[in-house]
Amino acid sequence: MDQPWWQKAVLYQVYLRSFADSNGDGVGDLRGVIDKLDYLDWLGVDALWLSPVTVSPDKDWGYDVSDYRDVQPVFGSLDDVDELIVEARERGMRIVLDLVPNHTSDRHPWFADARASRTARYRDWYLWADPRPDGSPPNNWRAAFGGGPAWEPTPETGQMYLHSFLPEQVDLDWWNENVRNEFDDVMRFWLDRGIAGFRLDVAHAIVKDRELRDVPNDYDKGVLVDIDETFAVLRRWRGVVDTYEEARILLGETWVMDLERLARFYGTGTDQLHLAFNFPYTFAPLEAAALRDVVEGTRAVFPPEAWPVWMLSNHDIPRFPTRTCGGDERKIRCALLALLTLRGTAVLYQGDEIGLEQVDVPLDRRRDVEVEGRDGCRTPMPWTSDGGWSDPWLPLGETTRNVEDERADPKSILNFVRDVIALRRSNADFQSGSYEPLEAPDSVWAYRRGDSTVVLNLSDEPRAYEGTTLAPCGLLADEAPGRLDRRPLADRDPHLVPEDLLERRDVRVAGIRDCDDDLVVADPAHGDGEHPARDLQRKHPRDVEIERGDGQVDVLELELHRERPRQVALEQPAARDQLLAEAHPGGLAVRERDVELLGRDQAAFDEDPAQHRPHLVREERVIQPRRLPRKAEALAQGR
Ligand code: GLC
Repeated sequence: MDQPWWQKAVLYQVYLRSFADSNGDGVGDLRGVIDKLDYLDWLGVDALWLSPVTVSPDKDWGYDVSDYRDVQPVFGSLDDVDELIVEARERGMRIVLDLVPNHTSDRHPWFADARASRTARYRDWYLWADPRPDGSPPNNWRAAFGGGPAWEPTPETGQMYLHSFLPEQVDLDWWNENVRNEFDDVMRFWLDRGIAGFRLDVAHAIVKDRELRDVPNDYDKGVLVDIDETFAVLRRWRGVVDTYEEARILLGETWVMDLERLARFYGTGTDQLHLAFNFPYTFAPLEAAALRDVVEGTRAVFPPEAWPVWMLSNHDIPRFPTRTCGGDERKIRCALLALLTLRGTAVLYQGDEIGLEQVDVPLDRRRDVEVEGRDGCRTPMPWTSDGGWSDPWLPLGETTRNVEDERADPKSILNFVRDVIALRRSNADFQSGSYEPLEAPDSVWAYRRGDSTVVLNLSDEPRAYEGTTLAPCGLLADEAPGRLDRRPLADRDPHLVPEDLLERRDVRVAGIRDCDDDLVVADPAHGDGEHPARDLQRKHPRDVEIERGDGQVDVLELELHRERPRQVALEQPAARDQLLAEAHPGGLAVRERDVELLGRDQAAFDEDPAQHRPHLVREERVIQPRRLPRKAEALAQGR
């Protein structure tokens, strides 16, 4: 069976309020996301997870929902969601929405009804208890925010209601079949619109202990969870999403720090969550032993069919470049390389791709309910050096790292991330290959994915590895021992490598450059009889060094852009000819194949322009031959 899309995917978390503001009101919105889809497509992510888009009084910024079937006006409308789904889909991306089933806003009509009387229609949708005779709460449960009792008195009936978070976030009673039915419907409401699944808020604690018993002293949650029944709810939800033909996912926020407990959220591996966030990995220090232990521990306890998901930052925790990397760019790259090359789905939080750091938000600008505050990881996405926002709801932080500048800089973290995503997309090892830890010196984390190898030197010292010296916090990802790729490679189109190049026996790939002009891949020995240029088809380098039969070295630079329907090119055969005319006279660039491809698409387009799907368009630029840098030459010769 084909590997499902979500296993291969890189997900990108959009914290909607701070992502992109299309109307200048200082708050990000759905149209803003639509406007940035080309950027996200360029980056190469497969799906977006949007923080809640639903109606909310915003006591907890969207995580207190007062209508599960409509859109918060400041974000746009249902039509905008629909358009986002379609526009994303046109670029091969999917939309995952945040669902908050654990609690509703206290302003939700269900709760307004429920609190009024003990016999109200929605009374038993929530959890009520009498206070003790002295007026104190019925048990020792504590709220996550503020740490006070998780019970709030209500004058209307004298009973208290449960709130695991704010008093304005009222816990639903998930023992109630009506609640379950209602959420089945809510899920279908969104799934029918074409979303690709849900990130499930508080997925680890949906059903509470029926007897409301005290939490034991060593319990790690404020409220006692009935975990078996929570799993029963997860299975029910799985049943709902599995009725859809194209795979829809359940991505659980599973705040448990023990891997065996985490594993249980997957059930058999195919009947509960598709993906359960691995917080032990997120919070592991950036040290080889610690990370390796979590990854190996995860592998050891997960059911065989369970698929891991890795994440470093989100809207609730300090950004990883500050938290675990101390702002050190080399460490940031190491963390990102691991995130994107481990076996499992990877989730980037907006800003991770530019190495965005935690922002110190001044006290008078803080907006979060928590005293310590999560504002510092929720500040607006810096699109340009001046941010690209007008009077945003939270202040911008440092904008030295911003999308525009990093996009223009081939050596930036952003281009690095894009390259690694490209590598992951184009190389099946990184999608489905097994994870095998490799022997490595102290503080070096080395692992194999299929035939590919990733090596991270996480120490502050150079480290020797397999005949190479790894720079402090240096990285290396290669596809076979002896082939070194210090920086994963650029472009991504599987059709990138010119067919004629693949056929030319007099052309030999000498190596692939990194952004510092270092040779990073020395020519593989062609033991398997495969033409070495085929490797390019998997790696898609931006710069490919070509050694011709006569021993001279050329550099072929290929640039690819995945774009929306290129009707320009299709409608104007002249543009095609122009493209071909620009091909290198020496004959290394694409020609026949390109004509073929464009021709085929042209025919399809002519036949039914309305049905024309977006497709990959290639642009090639061949630069003049240049000499290999000395270091590269030496490497190539020493091979
Ligand atoms: C989850 C959300 C967080 C929210 C909490 C309560 O942990 O990620 O932002 O405050 O649930 O809904």
